Amino acid sequence: MAKIKAIRGMNDILPTQTPAWRYLEATVEKVLGQYAYSEIRLPIVEKTELFKRSIGEVTDIVEKEMYTFNDRNDESLTLRPEGTAGCVRAGEEHGLLFNQAQRLWYKGPMFRYEKPQKGRYRQFHQIGVETFGMASADIDAEVIMISARLWKELGMLDDVTLQLNSLGSNEARAEYRSALVDYLSKHLDKLDDDSRRRLDSNPLRVLDSKDESTQSVLADAPVLSDYLDDESKQHFSELCQILDQAGIAYEVNPRLVRGLDYYCKTVFEWVTDSLGAQGTVCAGGRYDGLVKQLGGRPTPAVGFAMGVERLVLMLETLELIPEQLKTPLDLYIAAERKGLQADVIALAEKLRQISPGLRVMSHCGGLKNINNKARQTGAPWIVLVSKRDDELVATFWDQEEPYKDLSEAQLLETVGGRLNG
Ligand code: HAM
Repeated sequence: MAKIKAIRGMNDILPTQTPAWRYLEATVEKVLGQYAYSEIRLPIVEKTELFKRSIGEVTDIVEKEMYTFNDRNDESLTLRPEGTAGCVRAGEEHGLLFNQAQRLWYKGPMFRYEKPQKGRYRQFHQIGVETFGMASADIDAEVIMISARLWKELGMLDDVTLQLNSLGSNEARAEYRSALVDYLSKHLDKLDDDSRRRLDSNPLRVLDSKDESTQSVLADAPVLSDYLDDESKQHFSELCQILDQAGIAYEVNPRLVRGLDYYCKTVFEWVTDSLGAQGTVCAGGRYDGLVKQLGGRPTPAVGFAMGVERLVLMLETLELIPEQLKTPLDLYIAAERKGLQADVIALAEKLRQISPGLRVMSHCGGLKNINNKARQTGAPWIVLVSKRDDELVATFWDQEEPYKDLSEAQLLETVGGRLNG
């Protein structure tokens, strides 16, 4: 019978890969802790209506990328394609949003039916940050600075660039939209098929087109910054000023529009050259209208989400994963001959007891070629247990100092001392 395989674009994360994931997640959690953000855990499945109303009916995500199905009760449900909508839904449902300042984060799998390629998957993972109740540019700067600190912490600050833009108020964007449609309509013959289709439904997305001919038309297109309302201009200049003072470099990209409809004012993306085509590792912006749009009271909001797979790829490509994390163990302990298994297990337990940080793997199974077997584990320390005159003898081996015969007490002391030293 044919073997069953995983679904295309949905990856297993194997034991050789999980150390990088855990390292990334632990570092993100540490940094989020430094900014006093609280974790929220959200369902993976939501009502389809939630995503249609928030992300927008005519976005790529809602039009063609959602995993939508009817449950047994004939209700239309969707595997979440992103986390912002669910976070707003939960915040509103539990009274966390109105008249409060909230700083939240979440992590987990998201689902989009995209064409899989390196850095783009159908099940992928995001770690996201959402803040509510703060309208001024200081919080836009804070969320950007969280991501900047994370890149610094991971050693990849020099490999990412921050792109920044302002989309202005809804009114300003509507005015710009009609100017853009007027202009593009005069050059229909030069636009690619996708852009022509988007002209009616979502013309701002044409700015994202990678098609050369469309790009040449866009070179002379009206730019959004000329249409910005005064309040958005002021907000953007305050943001830039805070980032300047904090020493965070950015590029203003007037073409940056984002693929989800809920944004206004600030939008940003962190991009890298080190991954090929899927170079956006983190993206977000302000979405002051979304809470109201989903039935709540007007609540300013800003946040971002990073793509965990892309960041893990970057850590691997740039060789930034600490060597020590690549092996799952520090010490391998085995008996030198038969009949000592109970002693080995007892000694392994004592080691775990006195050195809780020590990762001890105790050998199970046959002892043939035990020296080689122990070495093949890659453990930096190996202990082989034997008995002389009824006393346990631990032969301790490490890279620097090969073979030392120690009593049980000496072994516990040596290992403890090295861990602390
Ligand atoms: P997004 O730009 O759609 O924004 O996704 C954020 C990040 O998720 C992307 O920059 C990318 O790193 C990663 N990502 C997206 N799709 C895929 C995929 N198919 N495979 C691998 N990685 C992917 C949002 O989702 C917004 N909810 C962000 C946000 C939060 N805005 C405000 N708050």
